[in-house]
Amino acid sequence: MNLAHTEPLKHRHSILIVDDEESILNAFKRILADENYEIQTARDGLDGLKKLRAAQKPFSLIISDQRMPVMNGVQFFAKAREIFPDAVRILLTGYADTDAIIDAVNKGGIHLYFTKPWREEELIAHIKQSLSQTELLMENRRLVELTKKQNEDLVELNKTLEEKVKEKTSDLLAKAEELNVSYEKVQIMLDGTVKTMSKIVETRDPYTSGHEAKVAIISCKIAEEMRLSKEQIEAIHIAATLHDIGKISVPSEILTKPGRLSDLEMEIIKTHCRVAYDILKTIKFPYPVADIILQHHERMNGSGYPQGLKGESILLEARIIGTADVIDAMASHRPYRPALGVDVAMEEIVNCKGKLYDSAVVDICVSIYKTRGKEAFIQEENSTSTENLSPFAAH
Ligand SMILES: [Fe+2]
Repeated sequence: MNLAHTEPLKHRHSILIVDDEESILNAFKRILADENYEIQTARDGLDGLKKLRAAQKPFSLIISDQRMPVMNGVQFFAKAREIFPDAVRILLTGYADTDAIIDAVNKGGIHLYFTKPWREEELIAHIKQSLSQTELLMENRRLVELTKKQNEDLVELNKTLEEKVKEKTSDLLAKAEELNVSYEKVQIMLDGTVKTMSKIVETRDPYTSGHEAKVAIISCKIAEEMRLSKEQIEAIHIAATLHDIGKISVPSEILTKPGRLSDLEMEIIKTHCRVAYDILKTIKFPYPVADIILQHHERMNGSGYPQGLKGESILLEARIIGTADVIDAMASHRPYRPALGVDVAMEEIVNCKGKLYDSAVVDICVSIYKTRGKEAFIQEENSTSTENLSPFAAH
């Protein structure tokens, strides 16, 4: 029976006295009457064990006679110590029975013995001293149990916390992974949509096939060199890939017309910025794609279209795409003229630096041109003929 407890000792000491002589039991009751003890008595060992087993709280002291019917004191203590190992055990013998006492010490684990007749004061003094020791022992045991229990609680709490942290961490990782997958899917879909829209325009103007993709590559190179943010570079990539989507509303005959365009035809061409804006403004891109495209023909001195914006009121992304557009358009063949080449395109943007094109963007282009050569702006060698050089090389 484990009656170890973690509450401080508050109850009265329980004492069990086992003796087959009624007079002895009464004598003990009388002697201990003034003490605040809870006293139980039993007439033999079996009755004593029954009372011990029925106890709701531990006995502090067990006193037993040696000579009794049914079982003697040694036999009784041998079993009683199994029930309450911490109880102080005192054996009463009628005479100096040395063998019984040695046996009681070895088998019954008795702490004290008294031979009859005993002196009352001596008996009370021993009982009190034994109980004080019991109290100390029980308090010590209580504290050990309490510490053990608190340690177990802490270990359990720690385990629970660790499990919760592990669970939460793996939940978060799974969610992050899901988000990543979703983000990648959206990116792939967006990329596919942008490319498809770009192809639609190219099918109507085969002469500029690949132009938007090339402008996107050049623009992104400039943006990377200018150390723009990842978001700005993504915005530039999408806007450049779609920058001429407004040409969908321009008749094919004008787009593919060899030779110079009339003023009216030029005005029709110029509508492509606004048309693109109207197409794209309702699409919720994570960047101002429609505005960038609307402004890609604006020029630093206000001579561009459609709004005649000046300087920094033109979005930087639009200034970059506008410059890259001119470079690729001049470097490539057009229905109204052969390719002029990257060298000529460089001359054009350097000559018009600050007037038509952003100075910082031009400087970056020149730096790329000097360090990586014209290949940085083209995939294959183009003609460098300056015949029919148009001031509006890029439409
Ligand atoms: Fe354009």
